Amino acid sequence: MLTEIKKDIFWVGCTDWNIRYFHGPMYTTHRGTTYNAYLIAGAEPALIDTVYTPFSGRLLDNIREVLDPASLKYVVVNHVEIDHSGALPAVMEAAPQATIICSAKAAPAIDKHFNGSWEKIIVKTGDTVSLGRHTLTFVEAPMLHWPDSMFTYIPEEKLLLPNDAFGQHYASSFRFDDEADMAEVMQEAKKYYANILLPFSPLVLKKIDEVVKMGIAIDMIAPSHGIIWRSNPDKIIAAYLDWARGTNRKKAVVVYDTMWGSTDQMASAIIDGLIESGMEVRAFHMSVSDRNDVIAEVIDAELVVIGSPTVNREFIPSLSAFLDDLTGLKPRGKRAALFGSSGWSRGATDKMAVRVKEAGFTLLEERMEVDWVPGAEELEQCRAFGRKLGEGYTGE
Ligand code: FEO
Repeated sequence: MLTEIKKDIFWVGCTDWNIRYFHGPMYTTHRGTTYNAYLIAGAEPALIDTVYTPFSGRLLDNIREVLDPASLKYVVVNHVEIDHSGALPAVMEAAPQATIICSAKAAPAIDKHFNGSWEKIIVKTGDTVSLGRHTLTFVEAPMLHWPDSMFTYIPEEKLLLPNDAFGQHYASSFRFDDEADMAEVMQEAKKYYANILLPFSPLVLKKIDEVVKMGIAIDMIAPSHGIIWRSNPDKIIAAYLDWARGTNRKKAVVVYDTMWGSTDQMASAIIDGLIESGMEVRAFHMSVSDRNDVIAEVIDAELVVIGSPTVNREFIPSLSAFLDDLTGLKPRGKRAALFGSSGWSRGATDKMAVRVKEAGFTLLEERMEVDWVPGAEELEQCRAFGRKLGEGYTGE
């Protein structure tokens, strides 16, 4: 169903209720997603972004509810990734007179993705294109999160169309922030930031500062995934500033796995100690946890405590993907501590130490290790270890 988000500006996107993996196996989408495209009707109609390839027909049907796609004058490609440009060939076939508007980095990527040779207008920050009643103003946003990424702004409506930025993988029958469950939306926005945008945090801060200095007034933010920020765009901007600055809460994330339960017992005792110290705790047994959800919890935690038994002198393989993520995403300003059980030889915490240092954590020297099965005294030591970790919290 179409939604007129501003006068003569329509959401013509598609809801993907069933997608459960995004970016191949990289990102779990428990709540599905939407591919938001926006149609500006008027003397010179423009489509802002398209949708993922399998939804091409539905996008065209949505456009046809407002106008004949053949009348499109412009198709703005804010970002070439195929969840937004996959329907471009279908749209250009239906609108052969349309001209693509994109950044300089996007132009060759469009040609390479689609083997196309469509006419393009290359724009840079500050360039404008008049549609009559509306003006498209462009702001390049390289590496947020691809080199080609770009925002489109419509000053007459104070409407920012920032593509992936401020989005969430969240399928919903609602379009706007004041209609949807905000706890769910913010959780998905946080997961999105943590798993996709986190490495680019310095650029996020720079871009928000640049937009403020350009004097861009924002009444509505309509991203390309999830809910549109109609009533409270400041909420998601403030959250982005917190996440990009690495603002931490008094919170610990305990991530571990276990073979025969020894490391699990240690984790439980450490968690008890952390809670006794006043820390908020989120704990994840990685055999039954989703690593993208864990990363979403890490982003605002001050402390990450990682535990593994030693297996072949290594840490347990179920922690590998999580540690890979930490190394790639490099969350800033966090402490890390390690624990684990061993049989006849140790090694897991040493190997994990290399990884968490590589990820930029401040690794605490003290570790908690036991041989075979923790006894009552060792479990008390684990509790004390947890308390000490929590008491080491000094603020941000
Ligand atoms: Fe970078 Fe939603 O694609």
